[in-house]
Amino acid sequence: MSLEVRSPKYERASITIPSEVADMQKSFNGTICSNKGDEYVISNNIINLLGDEQVEMTWAQSSNHWKVTAAVYEDIWRKRSLSILTGEEFPISKEQELLIEWLDPRPQKVYLDIGCSTALYGRLIKKEQPQCKVVSLDFSRQMLEEARFKAEVEQTDLYLLRADARYMPFFGATFDGLVMGGTLNELTDPMKVLYESRRIIKKDGVFFMMHLIKSPTWYIRLMQDSAGLGGLTFWTVEESNQMFNRAGFSIVDQFTKGIVCFTKLVPA
Ligand SMILES: C[S@@+](CC[C@H](N)C(=O)[O-])C[C@H]1O[C@@H](n2cnc3c(N)ncnc32)[C@H](O)[C@@H]1O
Repeated sequence: MSLEVRSPKYERASITIPSEVADMQKSFNGTICSNKGDEYVISNNIINLLGDEQVEMTWAQSSNHWKVTAAVYEDIWRKRSLSILTGEEFPISKEQELLIEWLDPRPQKVYLDIGCSTALYGRLIKKEQPQCKVVSLDFSRQMLEEARFKAEVEQTDLYLLRADARYMPFFGATFDGLVMGGTLNELTDPMKVLYESRRIIKKDGVFFMMHLIKSPTWYIRLMQDSAGLGGLTFWTVEESNQMFNRAGFSIVDQFTKGIVCFTKLVPA
């Protein structure tokens, strides 16, 4: 199954990415172009739609572009993060079960992992449903390289796309499902990304969201406020629900534990 994306430069131009690019067992290097002639490089299967463009970033975002963060992120932090953040035993398997239950990935359907880092969610979806198509998107090359390494080891095939989630390089109603794990808090323009998510999801699609909310405990809140200086934002559940609604989503299920909030969204 090849992948069709929208040219980042020309709104109506499409680019077809051959299916071999998702095959992590073989290194794919080459150039793709739209019918308008704008070209993009694929190197070691990572599709770079950003080129050499410099994206303005907060401190939190730029730390994801360090090789060391990418190397330790999943095994040292991510697998334990929910237990640390909820203050109780919260194995990653529990989060994964919830994702699969709410998303219910099906054969031939198309899913997007937004701000994927090491593509923890994207790899999980593909493992659960090998007949579907998965795109994992991030603007950090270092994170995508780590995602590629992990996907190759696990023999999981997916498209790894370097792009800015504020300007999703896809046509409207492309995806049957979207997933976003922890990225909302890091975005410089979360509403823009939510509006873009609404544009690219099909009307019967599902959006699995995991984000962190404001703590009711004063000293944790103090820490969250200072994290704001580094570029992280926390909202109350009500505030983030208002954002989801404003972007055109309805909340059909929600579950919070400590400062971790899982939400199942569908287009309103
Ligand atoms: C908290 S991490 C995501 C973790 C991952 N989803 C998971 O569940 O393990 C946030 C990621 O979003 C990416 N990111 C932040 N802003 C972005 C943007 N505007 N476009 C694309 N990626 C972005 C960062 O590079 C980082 O890898």
